[in-house]
Amino acid sequence: MESTRSRLAHRLAEAGQSHLVQFWDELTPEQQAEMTSDLEAMDFQEINKFFRSAMEVSHSSKQEKMDARMEPVPREVLGSVTRDRDCLKDWEEKGMRCISQSSVAVLLLAGGQGTRLGVSYPKGMYDVGLPSHKTLFQIQAERILRLQQLAEQRHGAKCCIPWYIMTSGRTMESTKTFFSRHSYFGLCKDNVIFFQQGMLPAMDYNGKIILESKNKLAMAPDGNGGLYRALGTQGIVEDMDQRGVKFIHVYCVDNILVKVADPAFVGFCVQKGGDCGAKVVEKTNPTEAVGVVCKVDGRYQVVEYSEITLATAEKRSADGRLMFNAGNVANHFFTLAFLRDIVQTFEPQLQHHVAQKKILYVDTQGRLIKPDKPNGIKMEKFVFDIFQFAKAFVVYEVLREDEFSALKNADSQDGKDTPTTVKHALMSLHHRWVLNAAGHFIDENGTRVPAIPSLKDGTDLPIKCEISPLVSYGGEGLEELVSGREFRPTLVIDESGAHELVKNGL
Ligand code: UD1
Repeated sequence: MESTRSRLAHRLAEAGQSHLVQFWDELTPEQQAEMTSDLEAMDFQEINKFFRSAMEVSHSSKQEKMDARMEPVPREVLGSVTRDRDCLKDWEEKGMRCISQSSVAVLLLAGGQGTRLGVSYPKGMYDVGLPSHKTLFQIQAERILRLQQLAEQRHGAKCCIPWYIMTSGRTMESTKTFFSRHSYFGLCKDNVIFFQQGMLPAMDYNGKIILESKNKLAMAPDGNGGLYRALGTQGIVEDMDQRGVKFIHVYCVDNILVKVADPAFVGFCVQKGGDCGAKVVEKTNPTEAVGVVCKVDGRYQVVEYSEITLATAEKRSADGRLMFNAGNVANHFFTLAFLRDIVQTFEPQLQHHVAQKKILYVDTQGRLIKPDKPNGIKMEKFVFDIFQFAKAFVVYEVLREDEFSALKNADSQDGKDTPTTVKHALMSLHHRWVLNAAGHFIDENGTRVPAIPSLKDGTDLPIKCEISPLVSYGGEGLEELVSGREFRPTLVIDESGAHELVKNGL
């Protein structure tokens, strides 16, 4: 024990992190043992190196805006659901074929802490208040089930879309327990693969690791780009290889409209020979706080809104659209070969980004302090940082109202990206699906509600309608259930048919 302690003390001193054991003598033997094992597992030299280079990059990028080095995505690498309507069927067919051959996997990034939403459990477990009270995890699981079924029906062979779920030290146990409690929402347990991303300590501006209590370091997940290290350390690339996976759709947990393993997106990327692809929505407002996909010094990347001037954000092309309008929705396509190259060769070249944060800490007297301004940094890699290594990068533009509505914040008056806004986005999409399948809605007096309802009392509430993903993945298969029929909201369509809910509790 003594030699372990002195070896540790020596390593800490060498790395300038001896303050981490300043309360050692006040700890119980159990706390000492736990802290020893936490500290032994850490590579302080590597952490110090991460800190130095992250701070360097952060300082140099603050001094220089990107504007002069940026170019928009060229038309030849862009596919668009509105501008290339003629190709959509082909892309979808191609993607369905890949799915039917079990060569497509989905990978969910679910290691975030959901700080802005303010819940203590993983965001995927959130119930936004749909009539069915399904959580984000359940909605995604059911879309996978339905898509497998569609591919099987179309190509007549059993297939599987493996679902890889990246969690972090903070979300692993609760996520696994939730899935097991819900019997994997009908998916085969062996095809839901959990793995854990790494954690890094929060540091003060002098590179000292912050203590959140006398015996615990302030640790946080290493960003959604922690994916690439985890793919290697957790043996995920090999697992994909063994299952015959060739293409991977990576997405974030918070988008309620996400088309998991979207056949048209996959088909487009495969047909174009892309090794790396990004789904985008058109940015229409220059001041919208969204990152844009573009080229910088000839290489693809996502440029954050804070990195460009308003003049550049406002620039327009000849067609009147914003020049930098490829809004990143964090939906990516990768070939397995590309991911393997990243894991084996490029991952160590990715730099951490610096996020300045208010981090709870204990002072030298051991008092817990809640700072009122940022007192340190968290270091994160981003999932899109690997675009620069693509040999054939492609971009796929979709409609925001069909595919993107993210849950970021708690409900508040006029809030953006809240449980209410995402619930409305889903119900509004499902309302349109019913209308497109020749169904109708009537109000309490039996009068047909116009397809574009007038705004009553200045409110903009959608028709209450929810369609189970087990019935329809993207609006298909609804005619036989709704065509020529009239429904009084709330309408719920699930495996047992179309029902009007008597109680309008929404
Ligand atoms: C992200 C995108 C942003 C995009 C927006 C769209 C990144 C870095 N940024 O921003 O360009 O416009 O979504 O909604 O992708 N996560 C982890 N591990 C972590 C941190 C996050 O798995 O260490 C996961 C989260 O669980 C979530 C996703 O990554 O599923 C996005 O994380 P979040 O921090 O919410 O990203 P945004 O800032 O919203």
